[in-house]
Amino acid sequence: MPLGTIYRRCIIIRTRGLEGVPAATTELSVIDGQKGELVYRGYNINELAGKVSFEEVAYLLWNGDLPDRTQYTKLCEQIAVGIGLPMPMMAIMFHLPQTSGPMQALRTAVSALALHDSEAEDNSPEANMRKAIHLTAHFPEVIAANYRLHTGNWPLESRSECGIARNFLWLLKGEEPTLHEIEAMDLCLVLHADHGLNASTFSARVTASTLSDMYSAVTSAIGTLQGPLHGGANQGVMRMLEEIGDVSKVEAYVDNALANKQRIMGFGHRVYKVEDPRAAILRRECQNVCSRAGNGKYFEISEKIREVVYDRKGLYPNVDFYSASVLHSIGIETRLFTTIFASSRIVGWTAHIMEQYKDNRLIRPTSEYIGVKERKFAPMKER
Ligand code: CMC
Repeated sequence: MPLGTIYRRCIIIRTRGLEGVPAATTELSVIDGQKGELVYRGYNINELAGKVSFEEVAYLLWNGDLPDRTQYTKLCEQIAVGIGLPMPMMAIMFHLPQTSGPMQALRTAVSALALHDSEAEDNSPEANMRKAIHLTAHFPEVIAANYRLHTGNWPLESRSECGIARNFLWLLKGEEPTLHEIEAMDLCLVLHADHGLNASTFSARVTASTLSDMYSAVTSAIGTLQGPLHGGANQGVMRMLEEIGDVSKVEAYVDNALANKQRIMGFGHRVYKVEDPRAAILRRECQNVCSRAGNGKYFEISEKIREVVYDRKGLYPNVDFYSASVLHSIGIETRLFTTIFASSRIVGWTAHIMEQYKDNRLIRPTSEYIGVKERKFAPMKER
């Protein structure tokens, strides 16, 4: 094999899965995997968590700065204008098969929303900002409507006067959430809003780079987030906690899973080589929320899993590990967890899509061909 080919193959093996390959520039967020830091537009996530609302983070990611009072009020008004699904959307949701999962429903709904937006293919910054705000307002409505229809309840109407976290919980459950529940939900939304060039954001940017529209780019992102190695991991974590059921069974469970080459959901990360800072924040929230909801055992089990997985594999928990029991403890069903992640990441996706349009170049990498070479063609009757 020629030396050049060997060299190229070595690079490809080293960067498999594009590990360590910078594929875009961004001003939105940055991760330091060695220090365990996540920064949104210059603000360390530890500074923001618990101090700002999801709406403030959305404004920050979309516009570059935290909003002052006037800007914040204006954004809330724009969100209020955006709520309310177009009527035909309800019919679409109503006719989705009972077997369709929440992420499938969300993906279908975003595609369908494009058909009811006369500006769907308008890629001007003004139209895209409006779409970003409206999609952020619509995600909780779509997720809750689908959930309620599947559980034999009629969808509820959004309440424009309350924030996204509070409205979301209201839409799902049809009862006023407690302050602690709202705060926990808001914290989860703040922590999941953006995360560098993660797989779903990359998908969104690839689609946007063809100058396709924002709805198409978001649809690509939803499909990518759904996978168990990405946003689907939080559901796997909750199923694991329920299956283990008692702290005394953790060691046997983890050892058995590792012996069978299974991945422990909620552990490991492509970028973080130390603890994911979002997991550290959520661990504290998890302890509080679980004990308040009488789910203290899930926190105990989680802590034991953390200890055993670190001992066996040297792996740290990622954001999905503690968010699972936090969401469970505020009364959200496991199968909805990935859609909650999506309801937050929609802000990051749309911010990245707009950033991509601002300085676009088609994203089109190459591949190294390793298939059969120089075959002789034979017509069908001779094969
Ligand atoms: N459980 C067991 N072993 C693991 C895990 C895990 N969760 N994660 C990594 N490893 C091992 C893996 O088996 C391999 O070991 P070895 O070298 O002995 O074969 C080594 O660590 C490196 O794994 P990798 O697959 O090359 O690492 P990656 O950077 O490609 O994978 C990951 C990153 C997140 C896909 C992986 O850690 C994983 O599958 N985790 C479980 C799923 C999960 O929690 N996903 C959520 C990620 S954070 C939220 C988000 O951004 O979506």
